[in-house]
Amino acid sequence: MTTRELQDKIIELKKKNDVCILAHAYVSHDIWEVADYVGDSYGLSVQAAKAPQKNVIMAGVRFMAETCKTLSPDKTVYLANSVAGCPMAAQIDKKTIEQMKAGNPGYAVVAYINTTAETKTAVDVVVTSSSAVKILNNMEEKNILFVPDCNLGGWVQKQCPDKNFKFFSGGCPTHLRMTASHVKEAKKAHPNALLLVHPECRAEVTEQADYVGSTTGIMKFAKESDAKEFIIGTESTIVEHLQFECPDKKFYLLSKECVCHNMKMTTLVDVYNAVKGDAEEIVLPADVIEQSRKPIDRMIELGG
Ligand code: 13P
Ligand code: SF4
Repeated sequence: MTTRELQDKIIELKKKNDVCILAHAYVSHDIWEVADYVGDSYGLSVQAAKAPQKNVIMAGVRFMAETCKTLSPDKTVYLANSVAGCPMAAQIDKKTIEQMKAGNPGYAVVAYINTTAETKTAVDVVVTSSSAVKILNNMEEKNILFVPDCNLGGWVQKQCPDKNFKFFSGGCPTHLRMTASHVKEAKKAHPNALLLVHPECRAEVTEQADYVGSTTGIMKFAKESDAKEFIIGTESTIVEHLQFECPDKKFYLLSKECVCHNMKMTTLVDVYNAVKGDAEEIVLPADVIEQSRKPIDRMIELGG
């Protein structure tokens, strides 16, 4: 079967089976073309709650499907490929958060959305890369324990000077591979290009960027900019999507190392199987849904 034929079958089946396909910005372009919504983690969360369909397929990683289930407990939520996880979400658990809270009385726990649903039950607010600064500035609490990504946290801290931050030393293994020496090499090779990076990158990378933002933010900036060349410091797929969106502009990946193997797991055939109901259904205990929903609702309220 060709890609086109498979896509046609998926489109036919999703209508027949009342399915909404949500795709994260990092999944491949053939999946984007059959998705009902494509976006960053914040956009996916908001969309999950709004989708009119009874069934939802998440083409992304596990924490995204869990967030979707939490926001839409009455829907059947499938993770298109069940081995697609986020290594950062595995870096911190509920017990560690509880220990950190006990050792830091008076601190509010702000967790990146890249955490498990169970971890979220112990936190005060959830944030995403595109909503974190706005949420922190809208929060009354001054003392913040930011988990698990200390690079995202450090970038947020610079824009929220009135808060006192403490960090957990976690981070994204994919974005951590990009260093200042990659920036030096890329700028030398492409002196006219703007550098656009994700805030999960190290400070030595974000400090040299022309724009720092979420996956959707990077794409919007590149599309709207008058510049013609861009060095992209995030997962490699974004370069491919931008080439489709802006074929007359040039996009260069900051480093060949910037590949998230988990995001690469989901294929168009996985989505085809999921739309037929042949994929892992996300099931969460009722108390986890109830308790993890509070900090996610607070994210939507403060970040909306
Ligand atoms: P975004 O919210 O920017 O899509 O980021 C999600 C993610 O996992 C980045 O590595
Ligand atoms: Fe997780 Fe990093 Fe992959 Fe994003 S790029 S899903 S943070 S491992």
